[in-house]
Amino acid sequence: MNEIPAALGLAPDQVEDLLLTAGRAPSLHNSQPWRFRVTPQAIELHADRDRALPVIDPAGREQRIACGAALFNLRLALHGRDIRPTVTILPDPARPDLVATIRNGGHKVATPEQREQLRAVPRRRTNRHPFTDAQLIPAELNALRRAALDEGAWLHIVDRREQRDELQDLAARAHRLQMDDPAFRAELDRWTATAPGRTDGVPAAAGGPLPTPQRRWVVREFHRGSGSERATADFEEEPVIAVLTAHLTGDRADVQVGQALERVLLTATVEGLAVSFLSQVVEVPRTREELRRLVGGSRPPQAVLRIGRGWPVTATPRRPVADLVRPEPRPAPTDRSVGAR
Ligand SMILES: Cc1cc2nc3c(=O)[nH]c(=O)nc-3n(C[C@H](O)[C@H](O)[C@H](O)COP(=O)(O)O)c2cc1C
Repeated sequence: MNEIPAALGLAPDQVEDLLLTAGRAPSLHNSQPWRFRVTPQAIELHADRDRALPVIDPAGREQRIACGAALFNLRLALHGRDIRPTVTILPDPARPDLVATIRNGGHKVATPEQREQLRAVPRRRTNRHPFTDAQLIPAELNALRRAALDEGAWLHIVDRREQRDELQDLAARAHRLQMDDPAFRAELDRWTATAPGRTDGVPAAAGGPLPTPQRRWVVREFHRGSGSERATADFEEEPVIAVLTAHLTGDRADVQVGQALERVLLTATVEGLAVSFLSQVVEVPRTREELRRLVGGSRPPQAVLRIGRGWPVTATPRRPVADLVRPEPRPAPTDRSVGAR
């Protein structure tokens, strides 16, 4: 069992609480691809190479987004203790897996908004089920847009019907391309329809029903290994589809967009809204480029969200906190050291 040390002026159980909150972030296939190194003065957030998904995410972009989401939760957890987090994001050429370093920046009372978002962390879920047909009101859309802006990102709401139809076609095309690839299917099967008791991956119960052909919002196939027939259901006619883009580009932008993503998701939770992802479109390079043109952006889109009003869904599992502070993997032996043995 890995011990959790004191850090940033907090006792070990308080540090454990911070990491528990960070670990509740969303991640592709619930891979929870992060690792923390805790020292008295700093908490380092690293991308865990052993939890990368090289087929679906060859450049590690979605891994950095997930780490950015965990970073946002960690920041919120520190605010919850009236500590101002001081954050340094990438890069450290000597340590390419280091995503961010978080330090204690002094006393600062949390805002009511920060406390509300922190309380929403355990309630936030990805909801792959049909939503109601009730429309979102402008104040809700504005709150979501502002959440992205406050973290240096832009949330584009796809509100024209033709654009939404086109996006739906792009998602369906990207989905088919991915499912035609045996390596993609093998990776999906390793992480989904996971056995009871596993602390990562997406259990079949968290996958939504299959949309009927008339309302064909693509929902990723999380049931393949479960052996059970997947039910079909009518999805809402006009979901709100939102495309998230960072102001920057490169690895830092991915971490930034991850923070913005989590802020948008927690804002949605506070507003009582449900959200799911349509990442296929941004995972397949060709459809990602077409989407960029569709929404008229100069930066590549980073995440696509479906937002509406849903019904409660169950939580996915998380790894125990002690597993998140696992020591760094030992460096792979060099050719010379292998030869010298
Ligand atoms: C970058 C990123 C991409 C994701 N893409 C998808 C997706 O395409 N389809 C989907 O159903 N869920 C997607 N998810 C949601 C994860 O599957 C989900 O966060 C994970 O299973 C944990 O469940 P939770 O969000 O309910 O805590 C994505 C999450 C992240 C962070």
